[in-house]
Amino acid sequence: MDINGRNFIKFQDRLNKYDLQNSPEAAEKQHSKGKLLAWERIHILFDEGTFEEIDAFVTPASIEKGFGRMTHTFGDGVIIGHGKISGRLAFAYAQDFNVMGGSLGAVHAAKIMKIQNMALKMGAPIIGLIDSGGARIQEGVASLAGYAGIFYRNVQSSGVIPQISVIMGPAAGGAVYSPSITDFVFMTNKTSHMFVTGPNVVKEVLNQDVSFEDLGGAEVHARKSGVANMIYEDEENTLLGVRKLLSYLPSNNLENSPYVFLAETQKDTDEKLREIVPDDTNKPYDVKDVINLIFDKGSFYEISELYAQNIVIGLGRLDGKTIGIVANQPKVLAGTLDINSSMKAARFVRFCDSFNIPLLALEDVPGFLPGIDQEHSGIIRHGAKLLYAFADATVPRITIILRKSYGGAYCVMNSKNLGGDFNFAWPTAEIAVMGPEGAVAILYRKELSESDDPAKLRKDLAAKYRSEIANPYIADEKGFIDEVIDPSITRKKLISAYEALENKHVSVPSRKHGNIPL
Ligand code: HXC
Repeated sequence: MDINGRNFIKFQDRLNKYDLQNSPEAAEKQHSKGKLLAWERIHILFDEGTFEEIDAFVTPASIEKGFGRMTHTFGDGVIIGHGKISGRLAFAYAQDFNVMGGSLGAVHAAKIMKIQNMALKMGAPIIGLIDSGGARIQEGVASLAGYAGIFYRNVQSSGVIPQISVIMGPAAGGAVYSPSITDFVFMTNKTSHMFVTGPNVVKEVLNQDVSFEDLGGAEVHARKSGVANMIYEDEENTLLGVRKLLSYLPSNNLENSPYVFLAETQKDTDEKLREIVPDDTNKPYDVKDVINLIFDKGSFYEISELYAQNIVIGLGRLDGKTIGIVANQPKVLAGTLDINSSMKAARFVRFCDSFNIPLLALEDVPGFLPGIDQEHSGIIRHGAKLLYAFADATVPRITIILRKSYGGAYCVMNSKNLGGDFNFAWPTAEIAVMGPEGAVAILYRKELSESDDPAKLRKDLAAKYRSEIANPYIADEKGFIDEVIDPSITRKKLISAYEALENKHVSVPSRKHGNIPL
């Protein structure tokens, strides 16, 4: 090429113009709001020097019927490309709020679809960095069609490649639905917001005053709606969080997760595990203490930590291998299963099953949460989601009953007859149709009503039930439990059990797809 030639000068001119889009003024606009430029985000997400942008010079569509104005830019407000994250291929798109509020027009959408197609074809994760006012109003229906095309590709990719959405500014209107289809949603506290309709519309339609933060801030979505799985205090840590999550995941549904071994060996037995479950059966404890003692040191990565805290979900490593953990949390609502915790765990079980991640259920659950509110809101069909998800999963599945395993909750939490591969119990396990107090009240109603001292009779009968029925040994003798184990050997037991399940293969009946109670 002649570097003084006409075409080369034009080429250089284009590069200069492209660079101007990230001028100090443009950077200041974002930085003053505590946000980074799209490019700066990409640099943190990918290994240094590995990101390759494509379609940098496409220009926005023209609008036929002039309403509003279009800003002429190179790239139409979104960066797309590929690079390496911890040495593995990944695809990404990053919206630029400085270009028409990161709004999505036809060309912008076509670029996102292009990168979605590539990620699916290459079998590599895709990460969307979202900072957008939604459908670009000036482009009308073409913007809506663009969103529909993105949603379609999200669905085609679901369960094939990991899809992660990172909200780094507004995600308004159409911008919220792609994230909600993807596997995980990350948000940055205070600077990111998600809503279908913003505070202005809420005011107009309902005459209610609400701030951005209270309507769709990161805290709201992490604690109340459950839309956000992970929140971080700033953008850099949010992006580092995405890198961390990806380190547990395979690149696609045909691969296994990468092994990540600890630098130093960890002993396989730990007597501290014997001391966690209190003698008093009604006393709470933190199931995360159990998780941290079983899994490779420091490897537990909790997901949706702030939402439905009566169940704990997350990824951990056992001798280097990724395992998906679902654990009842006796510290919150006594570990009962309610609508939110059932949905939280069910979606996670489906994710792990899609991506060949073996499952572990740690069980201590007195039952489903009773009450009019739960019943009227549909605990029957929402609880069924968790049941369905476990029963449908073909990855290796192990349960350890730590303490309570009563009623429907026994069945739901990956019991043997639901297809669990190994079910172990600690000696502290209580496995029965219901708890002692409930059982006594039903079976001895007549005796209690006729007794001179019903309180004492109730207490004595409950004690008898607890010692004779509410233990793991009846289930053990009938084969519903494979083994009652000393808690201190739990890690060792699990490592060898998952090794035995390494080549698990299940043939499923031919069908289009099951009909999970959505
Ligand atoms: C075109 C848009 C836009 C949009 C923002 N802008 N949203 N342009 N289409 N949807 C432009 C603004 O005109 C402005 O341009 C620039 O982006 C920055 O916007 P500001 O309002 O100045 O910024 P800020 O105060 O930070 O507020 C950001 C915002 C707000 C919260 C995103 O702009 C907003 O509420 N936008 C509309 C959100 C919305 O209702 N989206 C729904 C679209 S319908 P200038 O030139 O002045 O810098 C939809 C349906 C799809 O998405 C359904 C699919 C299922």
